[in-house]
Amino acid sequence: MYELARSIRTIADYPKPGILFRDITTLLGDARAFRRAVDELVQPLAGTKIDKVAGIEARGFILGGAVAHQLSAGFVPVRKKGKLPHTTVRIAYSLEYGVDEMEMHQDAVQPGERVVLVDDLIATGGTAVGAVQLLRKLGADVAAAIFVIDLPDLGGAKKLAELDVQVRSLMA
Ligand code: PRP
Ligand code: ADE
Repeated sequence: MYELARSIRTIADYPKPGILFRDITTLLGDARAFRRAVDELVQPLAGTKIDKVAGIEARGFILGGAVAHQLSAGFVPVRKKGKLPHTTVRIAYSLEYGVDEMEMHQDAVQPGERVVLVDDLIATGGTAVGAVQLLRKLGADVAAAIFVIDLPDLGGAKKLAELDVQVRSLMA
């Protein structure tokens, strides 16, 4: 099996019965795997102008911060509701095991800035589609959305592609 895939563990019935939860804490705790994941996420973007990386709370913060550093880009958080102190834009979304609302600071991105969206995993795509909608509401040019894991049977990557977002993941 692909080395990176081996560094991720799967937990059955978390957080709800029937969900096979892909736990990336084991990848993050493995120095080689963490570096390799970040390097592979960044590599196709080398040489392209990226102003900002938007990371989705919470696992997207860890990867997104590292990706932003590698790209010499700024980092902006996409947070669950009620966590950001300044004026926000907010959107409701659903994901594989729930519903929630997410927010960004209204001044986090300037119109026309090229932004890469980062998260650990795309499943139904509800979370990533919500984040793309917020970014576009702020006038961002969403250059790509990058994930470590895609669960293709849940259709999220297809939904993003239908929104004309370039999607890339390291494994399915
Ligand atoms: C997970 C994952 C993605 C989202 C994907 O986050 O990190 O953000 O679900 O699911 P979807 O494609 O069906 O929308 P979660 O909401 O569990 O938050 P966490 O990172 O705070 O655990
Ligand atoms: N987010 C949505 N579905 C998930 C899964 N199966 N494992 C980890 N995070 C997820």
